[in-house]
Amino acid sequence: MSKKEKILEVKNLKQYFNMGKPNEVRAIDNVSFDIYKGETLGLVGESGCGKSTTGRTIIRLYDATDGQVIFNGEDVHGKKSRAQLKSLNRKMQMIFQDPYASLNPRMKISQIISEGIDIHGLAKTPKERKDRVYDLLETVGLNKEHANRYPHEFSGGQRQRIGIARALAVEPDFIIADEPISALDVSIQAQVVNLLKKLQKEKDLTFLFIAHDLSMVKYISDRIGVMYFGRLVELADADELYKNPIHPYTKSLLSAIPLPDPDYEKTRVRKVYDPSKHKLEQGETMEFREVKPGHFVMCSKEEFARYQKDAVTTS
Ligand SMILES: Nc1ncnc2c1ncn2[C@@H]1O[C@H](COP(=O)(O)OP(=O)(O)OP(=O)(O)O)[C@@H](O)[C@H]1O
Ligand SMILES: [Mg+2]
Repeated sequence: MSKKEKILEVKNLKQYFNMGKPNEVRAIDNVSFDIYKGETLGLVGESGCGKSTTGRTIIRLYDATDGQVIFNGEDVHGKKSRAQLKSLNRKMQMIFQDPYASLNPRMKISQIISEGIDIHGLAKTPKERKDRVYDLLETVGLNKEHANRYPHEFSGGQRQRIGIARALAVEPDFIIADEPISALDVSIQAQVVNLLKKLQKEKDLTFLFIAHDLSMVKYISDRIGVMYFGRLVELADADELYKNPIHPYTKSLLSAIPLPDPDYEKTRVRKVYDPSKHKLEQGETMEFREVKPGHFVMCSKEEFARYQKDAVTTS
């Protein structure tokens, strides 16, 4: 296997809103993780834990309060020329949760999709632009008859496909999908996930896939990070995280997922996470530590020792 190459490095990232005021919010507090080329990193956690802020700060919609985002070796929040900014904007794209709000209702689908093509000068002639739009529509499972219609003529799932086509139009390397399936009917969710998986293979894309629960990221993620109140509390390979969750908050999220097995459902106990149970020695802070290779957990020293011991007996 080829050596894993990092496309994105998030280092000690902080995003505080209303800094120094009584309503200060530490939306992201010292979060670090890497994303490797071609993988999907799932990011989960309950409403308000800072998932969208993480995505938005990565693509520089917000200035970071502190820390770094390195994309393809380049410091995203560093000083940039116009040309560098434009190129970053092209290489990192975002897909949004609400397929109703994220498409301009007054624009035809062809205009929505070709906006980025024009901004980045990716088509030389009107014909080339039109062909690109048709190609993109087909790539996402729509067809060229759809190009002349308006967003309100489409279902939620179709609109999300249009949002995906718009993101793909500028040939990005990295896509942040912020709860792209949460607003869709359950029957449509799998179709959109399958489409994203197919596109990832065909176009060599890397994804940060944001969701609020662990059931939604299961089939798309290679690795999963769990956020709690602005902090990353656990990060591991997807299989490992489901099989051997370590942080009590991850365990509580997993216990919330119903399974289609009546025996399991009869005995399923909802675990409640109680953050006051973490004991810290004086002067000690919680740290993100590697309990097993590639499996990181936010913990105290004492917890770390215990988790490591447990890890030996369970694997
Ligand atoms: N522009 C802003 N100004 C002030 N506070 C903000 C801003 N954006 C987000 N926040 C706060 O930051 C915290 C994290 O919000 P964020 O939207 O990142 O959470 P989320 O995990 O995406 O939640 P959801 O699952 O509901 O989308 C919340 O407390 C939110 O109220
Ligand atoms: Mg959000």
